[in-house]
Amino acid sequence: MRNGSIQVRCVVLLASAAALLSLLRAQDPQFPSLPAPAPKVLIQPGKLDQLEQLSCTKCHEKIVEEWSSTAHALAWVDPVYQSEIKEKRKPEACHGCHIPEPMSAGEAGTRPEPRKDALHYGVTCETCHLAADGAMLGPVDIEAPTAGVHASRRADSLASPGTNALCSSCHRTSIGPVIGIAKDFEAADKAKGGDSCVGCHFAAEREVVDSKGKKRLVRSHALQTPRDPAFLARAFGAKLTVEKSATVVTISNLAGHRVPGLIGREIELEATLLDAQGKTVAKGTQSLSTSSPMPVADSVRIEIVGTGASVHLVGRHTDPRADKPVVFLERDLKP
Ligand code: HEC
Ligand code: HEC
Ligand code: HEC
Ligand code: HEC
Ligand code: HEC
Repeated sequence: MRNGSIQVRCVVLLASAAALLSLLRAQDPQFPSLPAPAPKVLIQPGKLDQLEQLSCTKCHEKIVEEWSSTAHALAWVDPVYQSEIKEKRKPEACHGCHIPEPMSAGEAGTRPEPRKDALHYGVTCETCHLAADGAMLGPVDIEAPTAGVHASRRADSLASPGTNALCSSCHRTSIGPVIGIAKDFEAADKAKGGDSCVGCHFAAEREVVDSKGKKRLVRSHALQTPRDPAFLARAFGAKLTVEKSATVVTISNLAGHRVPGLIGREIELEATLLDAQGKTVAKGTQSLSTSSPMPVADSVRIEIVGTGASVHLVGRHTDPRADKPVVFLERDLKP
């Protein structure tokens, strides 16, 4: 925390976040986290082709479809990646996380080795699921055997909270343009409050009933990203206070790590102080970028000289793949 008075307000915010969390916990016992509707992505990064050649497609078509439009599927074909490795003397040092061997081949939490074939499929299904003995690791022990298909079993690395280690293997190292944001998640001990990477980034959306009649939620493999404005808005808590002759908007970070979590992304927050008639009194802004992110479990302040009836807060996100900033947040705050 940057100062004592912010800390008090953050405790209040955390208390309401805790109430929200307990509500969600009731809905989704496996991964209590931010509410997670199916992603509504404004800017699609693209879609991988040649999906029919992937052996899983025949039986897990929906999941393959979801995954195919994510940065994971596109991690190798990504034009930004391809142009960056052209300039590297040792591109092999980059490949481990972009065209990885199955993760279970290494120790949990260690960086994977690059594979030699099917590079097209980037961070592919086997990366996260294939065990050394050929079985598919998943979140549950499946009652009906997958005999004749593939062996499968529950593994800690695919069930909460073990998945954090799986994600962190690639997301905790800062190399090239990569920000090791999983280190933020670890440093703030976010898992302790029930947060998980999967809880926020893999939306729980399909209900299935097992052979014993027990209900379970299946998560989408379509990653939730800040290109979905509604998802991005959830990273921000906002509170208005008056301090002497100044109006202060305290913005708190509700995500699992610093924001923005990727280089080249910019977020601008603009607070407009309005009088009782709705006329502008003054404005204040705060920009978040790689060099000045909003730290994990912390907050930033927008101080506006003067007082008024309310503040209109607007947030704009700039993704380098978009041609203009996207408004993701609009909130009216009263003291
Ligand atoms: C330890 C795993 C790891 C290694 C090694 C790695 N990357 Fe990545 N890369 C990632 C992750 C994770 C992301 C997602 C973005 C992030 O977390 O910052 C990413 C994203 C990227 C992006 C996309 C950025 C964007 O704007 O969308 C590029 C380009 C990239 N990496 C290039 C490289 C280059 C060049 C190297 C070698 C110097 C490299 N990577 C090595 C894990 C890795
Ligand atoms: C980055 C890692 C990662 C990749 C890549 C990945 N998955 Fe998953 N998958 C997961 C995680 C994590 C879960 C567990 C989610 C949960 O706890 O509900 C999961 C769950 C599953 C499940 C079980 C669903 C259920 O709850 O019954 C299947 C089936 C599956 N994945 C298939 C695939 C296929 C097919 C691909 C490739 C198109 C793929 N996965 C790619 C991480 C991954
Ligand atoms: C011939 C059909 C078929 C193919 C091909 C297939 N699977 Fe499956 N898989 C199933 C069935 C059936 C289940 C059990 C029911 C379910 O979860 O959908 C299953 C379950 C799973 C699970 C959940 C395991 C658990 O214990 O939670 C994972 C993960 C998985 N498959 C991954 C894969 C991956 C990755 C591929 C491709 C390399 C693949 N499967 C190919 C039919 C198939
Ligand atoms: C094998 C390495 C690896 C693992 C394991 C991994 N990731 Fe990634 N992830 C990447 C790379 C590489 C990228 C970026 C690819 C690019 O943009 O070129 C990425 C990108 C992302 C993004 C940004 C998506 C976007 O479009 O902006 C999110 C979110 C993400 N990963 C979440 C997760 C979660 C959650 C898990 C754990 C279930 C996980 N990752 C596991 C390598 C990995
Ligand atoms: C409490 C929810 C939450 C948790 C936990 C969480 N994230 Fe995020 N994540 C978000 C939100 C919200 C954003 C959008 C804000 C931003 O752009 O940084 C985001 C952004 C990202 C991005 C940047 C994507 C982009 O295109 O700019 C990556 C990569 C990522 N998260 C990976 C992870 C990984 C890996 C973990 C676990 C170590 C994790 N997240 C844990 C909520 C969460």
